[in-house]
Amino acid sequence: MAFIDWEDKYRINVAEVDGQHEGLFSILNRLHESLTNGEDKSMQAVLLDELIDYTVEHFATEERLFLQTGFPGYEEHKRVHDDLTGKAVDIQDEFRNDNATISFELLDFLHQWLTEHTLGLDQEAGDHLNRNGIY
Ligand SMILES: [Fe+2]
Ligand SMILES: [Fe+2]
Repeated sequence: MAFIDWEDKYRINVAEVDGQHEGLFSILNRLHESLTNGEDKSMQAVLLDELIDYTVEHFATEERLFLQTGFPGYEEHKRVHDDLTGKAVDIQDEFRNDNATISFELLDFLHQWLTEHTLGLDQEAGDHLNRNGIY
């Protein structure tokens, strides 16, 4: 069993977004594996950067689709994305400045954030996108 298992319940039925969510799960799994196997910090730095870059790209994809379809929940949803991006950049800075290490607590936080967001706000947004012909 992986740290975070990809399941159908996470799908929002928008192919591009589902593919990105699955990709995010997979990077998070890889990071968890790296920590479990005690790989060195430089590997974790690479994976952390990859996770953050891909998250930023993913949020931009969702927000583009929201704007394109006049999603009424856009502002609220974007605020939640921006909040996580801000936290992620702080973590990245601390890690780069060598003041922090990636912990299992951090991975648990990301696990929880990602599953809750995907099952919550992203599902609502997905319904809206589907109603607007985006699959
Ligand atoms: Fe998402
Ligand atoms: Fe989202």
